[in-house]
Amino acid sequence: MTQSIDTKIGPDFMRGIAMRAPGVTATRGFYEKNWGLRTVAEGNDGTFYLRGTGSEHWVYAMREDRDFGIDYVHFGMNTRSRLDALHAQLQAASIPVTAPAELSTPGGGYGFTALDPEGRRLRFSADVARHADTGDERALPRKVSHVVLNTPAMEATSAWYQEHLNFRVTDYSADMMVFLRCATDEAYSDHHCIALNRAQYPSANHVAFEMPSIDSFMRGIGRMKQAGQAPSWGPGRHGPGNNPFAYFVSPSGFVIEFTSEVHKVEEATHAPEVWPRDVPEKMDTWMTAGPPTPAMRTVMAGRPDAGWQAP
Ligand SMILES: [Fe+2]
Repeated sequence: MTQSIDTKIGPDFMRGIAMRAPGVTATRGFYEKNWGLRTVAEGNDGTFYLRGTGSEHWVYAMREDRDFGIDYVHFGMNTRSRLDALHAQLQAASIPVTAPAELSTPGGGYGFTALDPEGRRLRFSADVARHADTGDERALPRKVSHVVLNTPAMEATSAWYQEHLNFRVTDYSADMMVFLRCATDEAYSDHHCIALNRAQYPSANHVAFEMPSIDSFMRGIGRMKQAGQAPSWGPGRHGPGNNPFAYFVSPSGFVIEFTSEVHKVEEATHAPEVWPRDVPEKMDTWMTAGPPTPAMRTVMAGRPDAGWQAP
């Protein structure tokens, strides 16, 4: 096991994401019947909170809003003391943060919100209630695997996440994408929990949901096809992360992905690799996916997300 030599701390794991869009709550049936999530609660403001089959209390939230965007990306801290330490670290760096407090969202817990340099809200929480009924191996998403964010300032944003949240670069996709992992004290980490994609403006690129196995991954694609929706890209297998992918455009106007078997990086030995984008077999090791549809590319480019001025 490696111990990081600096004392910086960052989030321990990805919890999920809260999205906002006009008409988004009317698409909840799609997320339940076709995608395979379940509603756990409705908030006082009409936000719906959905869970996967894993222990996370909720992994995906949807709130009615005038604009399409992210409400916040949600990260987990293993303890309240680590959460307090992260808060102090961000505050010392003059990053806008709210005060740590008991949370009123479903599952409760203790947390705060910070603002990244492009106006995205990031929530950090500890002690959120967990579900005990895990181990469901059906073709249903277990958790949010990763979130890809569009950014016009990829290098600066990547540097910020590394400096202030202790993220580490796992790999690059040419000069278009950088894959970042939460750097914990574990010997192995998920290949990425966020990735940044060079784009015209900050927005949501896609959210990926982890299936419990490659078989359930395929079965999930089958469920979508039976419901009349073929993947807009995939199935294929990414080079960086070595994870199978199938992308769909959701009726709420966001790109969502089924994935599984995401590579676990060995912290002691990993060195970032630059994966080419002009070698088909490096982009899709199965060579099955073909190109993404133009429509999906457009949705992936996102709509400009003005974000927040204060957390
Ligand atoms: Fe992805």
